Amino acid sequence: MNHLFSPLKLKDVELKNRLVVSPMCQYSSTDGFANDWHLVHLGSRAVGGAGLIISEATAVSPEGRITPFDLGIWKDEHIPFLKRITDFIHQQGSVAGIQLAHAGRKATKSQPWTGNKHLSPEEGGWENFVAPSPIPFEENTPAPIELDLEGIQKVIADFKAATSRAVAAGFKVAEIHAAHGYLLHEFLSPLSNKRTDQYGGTFENRIRLLFEIVAAVKEVWPENLPLFVRISASDWVPEEESWTIQDSVVLGKELKAAGVDLIDCSSGGNSTKQQISVGPGYQTPFAQAVRLESNILTGAVGLINSASQADHIIRTGQADVVIIAREFLRNPYFPLHAAAEVHKEIKWPVQYERAKLR
Ligand SMILES: Cc1cc2nc3c(=O)[nH]c(=O)nc-3n(C[C@H](O)[C@H](O)[C@H](O)COP(=O)(O)O)c2cc1C
Repeated sequence: MNHLFSPLKLKDVELKNRLVVSPMCQYSSTDGFANDWHLVHLGSRAVGGAGLIISEATAVSPEGRITPFDLGIWKDEHIPFLKRITDFIHQQGSVAGIQLAHAGRKATKSQPWTGNKHLSPEEGGWENFVAPSPIPFEENTPAPIELDLEGIQKVIADFKAATSRAVAAGFKVAEIHAAHGYLLHEFLSPLSNKRTDQYGGTFENRIRLLFEIVAAVKEVWPENLPLFVRISASDWVPEEESWTIQDSVVLGKELKAAGVDLIDCSSGGNSTKQQISVGPGYQTPFAQAVRLESNILTGAVGLINSASQADHIIRTGQADVVIIAREFLRNPYFPLHAAAEVHKEIKWPVQYERAKLR
């Protein structure tokens, strides 16, 4: 029976355990560049024993940033510092992954700690923030620009070029961000996609852009390295025509057929009307449903805060990896503690061996 510290082979990549650092925006870049903050932030979770560390949402274009301070990968100059980070992560026996992202209509915001407000160009934001349809996420904010077919081609090309740079930067896992109400989720969901062309209307049309991006990414992403997609498995707006777990199961089957290796099952983020009943493991049933019904590997995420909870998810086959965000912020050494809690012997960094928990 697999458990939290069983290795997981994904194509030519082996994770030493099933603990994954969830992508977490740091809003600490200038012009998209990684810096010492990112090296220490991601590096300390590698020292802490995570099997896989997925970088924060990394913008494929400047207009695809949430804030002016997002990490980016839209130019070659971004590569060298990212390479320094991936090298460090790999030296610790962890694996470096990158989340490739476009913020869509949720772009041009201030950082959360300065209010998460819409930024006009005068305030350091930008006017060319785009979406499938010209519907703002929140009332009283400007409407995004509806992408035309040329704009859609640019988004696809941006994801592809960003993927080539991710390869050069040494990442071994790529995750396409199609969750949380950002651009690709906006295309998937009928709440935000009101198009009447080949990218809107039917389910097949709404998923089209994601599949065109998966295909473009796969042209440059090495075949021996795994590709993940993060989805919002439900919009949590059942009273309107919205994205549901049943849609996610169908999507999961089709993503598997398209060569995607794992679905990271998050939820929500595309509507101010969402009603989420939040509690420990509240999204884990989504990972379980997609895993069983779409027959694809999944990651469970969302309020997984203890070693025994995480171990239980793997042992009972609810998911293949456990993806953790906030607990990793509180405790970068969470895996070192978790191993002791579930009585598994793991290797500590030699520099820290004298502190080993037994
Ligand atoms: C500080 C912070 C930044 C986040 N940034 C991202 C992000 O860049 N991409 C993403 O997909 N999710 C992001 N999330 C969501 C987390 O990855 C995760 O899905 C969510 O926090 C639930 O997991 P948790 O209960 O373990 O925190 C962020 C969460 C936090 C707390």
